[in-house]
Amino acid sequence: MSIVIRGGTVVTAEQTFSADVYCENGLIAAIGENLEVPAGTEVIDATGQYVMPGGIDPHTHMQLPFMGTVASEDFYTGTAAGLAGGTTSIIDFVIPAPQQPLMDAYHQWRDWSEKSAGDYGFHVAVTWWDESVKQDMATLVQEYGVNSFKHFMAYKNAIMADDEILVNSFARCLELGAMPTVHAENGELVFQLQKDLLAKGITGPEAHPLSRPPVVEGEAANRAIQIAQVMQVPIYIVHVSCKESLEAITRARNEGQRVYGECLAGHLVIDDSVYRSEDFAFAAAHVMSPPFRSKEHQAALWKGLQGGNLQTTATDHCCFCAPQKAAGKDDFTKIPNGTAGIEDRMAIMWDAGVNSGKLTMNEFVAVTSANSAKIFNIYPQKGSITTGADADIIVWDPEASRTISAATHHQNIDFNIFEGRTVKGVPTHTLSRGNLVYKDGDLRAVKGAGKYVKRQAFSPVFEAMAKQSAANKAQPVNRK
Ligand code: URP
Ligand code: ZN
Ligand code: ZN
Repeated sequence: MSIVIRGGTVVTAEQTFSADVYCENGLIAAIGENLEVPAGTEVIDATGQYVMPGGIDPHTHMQLPFMGTVASEDFYTGTAAGLAGGTTSIIDFVIPAPQQPLMDAYHQWRDWSEKSAGDYGFHVAVTWWDESVKQDMATLVQEYGVNSFKHFMAYKNAIMADDEILVNSFARCLELGAMPTVHAENGELVFQLQKDLLAKGITGPEAHPLSRPPVVEGEAANRAIQIAQVMQVPIYIVHVSCKESLEAITRARNEGQRVYGECLAGHLVIDDSVYRSEDFAFAAAHVMSPPFRSKEHQAALWKGLQGGNLQTTATDHCCFCAPQKAAGKDDFTKIPNGTAGIEDRMAIMWDAGVNSGKLTMNEFVAVTSANSAKIFNIYPQKGSITTGADADIIVWDPEASRTISAATHHQNIDFNIFEGRTVKGVPTHTLSRGNLVYKDGDLRAVKGAGKYVKRQAFSPVFEAMAKQSAANKAQPVNRK
């Protein structure tokens, strides 16, 4: 199957230029003006539109078993919704239960993800530690194309990783050339604050942000960064939601440390007033961790993106419907944590970022696609419009608008945190490895068409850091 996209303006993280883009056998085969293409090639007219790399969402949780239930969005519905919104690849998470072998969990998630309509890969969480975990990490990196491991510093008595696990796992990541990533919240403090709030009779969703204040996130982010600094390993902080974490990242980067930060579309545009709604279902639908923050933190996150201290945007797409959220009706700590967003991230980032002048179009591509591909080592196969790259492409109409609603979205959830927001700038076409999977409102996602994307270990950066680490090793003093 071949497709040519004619007459559009190509926008990548680096450049903006007029060109046709010809796609053949799933790849971008040619880029240039007035391309000659074989007879029978399907033509997409992109006049007046932008032609950009498909979005990469580096943080999703499809059908995650979590907090006594399972996320309602599966790998098919979730990736299909992503395609409708211009996201063509995701990096989801394998999360082994404590004591569960990493390889068992990995195979379980690979089985679930077979039905994906869009391309996908996995970060694997390290939730416990022994020699078998160390060995499985090597197997995952060397044989299965996993180059990042996740550590939850929160969720005590469930999947929380303590400092001993962080130190062991970060050291292993350095040996293997894999990126350690962290959910930064001090789980001990959250646990204590939750108990204090419940004891005071504050049991509703309004207690959720009170149990996870910014300082709790900032402390954990700072601790993880300092551990990474001592271990001489790069680190990626997921869903940075507040000034305190951003400051820890910025400080470390200014010292030359290799630290990366991700923020969520939701955290950029939704504030913590949602938790004070008198409607339990509405407030509970916004319960996620870290919670939505005050506008002051939102402003800081935008500056973090603009200044380059935050490099990626994600959604943490983790859907729970109202009956699932109702499990926490009398106890906010039992509300399953998670919100949706995969379908809307690109439009939110364009509308709130590009239309407002906060981001250039090239920066939009960087933070929605290219930077994730670079950090997780799949660039330029993903995240670029270059000859030979996967033909994951969106054709973007900057003049068209849509109003976001749970009534019309494709996501398998009964709520939309962006409900009622009108966004200007929408995809008219989405190509996933050269297949036209979305066209003017017609979603043509195919169950099982998504491919698993292997990600190589990061040798150059890590080799340099390992050398530096070895050079820094203290020497014993030779005494007579
Ligand atoms: O509330 C959230 N974010 N749920 C998903 C799990 C996680 O912490 O990423
Ligand atoms: Zn998290
Ligand atoms: Zn998450």
